[in-house]
Amino acid sequence: MNIHLNKILITGGATGIGLGLSTRFVSENNQVIVCGRRTDALNDLKDKHPAVVTRQCDLSVEQERIGLYGWICAEHPDLGVLVNNAGIQQHMSLADDDFYTRAKEEMSVNIDAPLHLAVLFAGLPALKTIINVTSGLAFVPMVKAPVYCATKAFFHSFTLTLREMVRGRGIEVIELIPPALNTDLGGKGLHDYAPPVSDFIETVFAGLREGKPEISFGFSEAMTKAGPDELRQTFVRMNQAR
Ligand SMILES: NC(=O)c1ccc[n+]([C@@H]2O[C@H](COP(=O)([O-])OP(=O)(O)OC[C@H]3O[C@@H](n4cnc5c(N)ncnc54)[C@H](OP(=O)(O)O)[C@@H]3O)[C@@H](O)[C@H]2O)c1
Repeated sequence: MNIHLNKILITGGATGIGLGLSTRFVSENNQVIVCGRRTDALNDLKDKHPAVVTRQCDLSVEQERIGLYGWICAEHPDLGVLVNNAGIQQHMSLADDDFYTRAKEEMSVNIDAPLHLAVLFAGLPALKTIINVTSGLAFVPMVKAPVYCATKAFFHSFTLTLREMVRGRGIEVIELIPPALNTDLGGKGLHDYAPPVSDFIETVFAGLREGKPEISFGFSEAMTKAGPDELRQTFVRMNQAR
């Protein structure tokens, strides 16, 4: 994609990886629109970058996704890029009474929302690019986040087929596959051990400039290239200390 002069919607773009993408796209001279549930996070972003347009929205609610799309059609019909970044990660075990309730919540944010937005926004005449944020855990799952990993495997698979489905419409689909990064995903402190978002963002923008359809980094890059034996060994190693 051309990384300049686009109008871009970034879901969950006020924190973590989304914030890294938002601020970098702003500095590359794009108009950025960000949505998320927390108005304090959206307002912090707006205070630092007044040109960013923010929209409060809960993407787990179907009607709110439809409302977001309707608002974009009315106010920003020249939107060229959708970034499906918003996601949640739940650590849970089968002993949890609310396992299924939390699983449904995770599936609605990590699967229903990006799938539905992709279907809606692919109908926008100006749309040129869809960027989906999956995870290295799509390739090798972590037992303590069982549904999260499965949602990311789903989203990776859907991204491959979406790319072919929209090719005829002149829309490119790019997959960002982060490894563990230091954000508040799953709760404050859980990812403190991981590298900063800024390292990944550098790799993402280098990849976008080169026209790569799939951009990974560190552990996630290794997992996208791993054969079945390495994936099995990594699964055992990753999960033995839990
Ligand atoms: N950090 C990692 O280690 C890592 C690794 C691989 C992949 N990823 C993926 O990267 C993406 C961004 O995660 P992150 O690490 O940057 O964590 P994060 O800071 O928690 O970002 C998640 C964003 O999604 C938004 N969001 C969550 N639920 C939403 C909902 N129902 N409606 C609207 N927005 C919602 C959150 O905003 P509100 O809470 O205000 O709604 C937040 O801004 C996720 O898809 C995640 O799975 C992260």
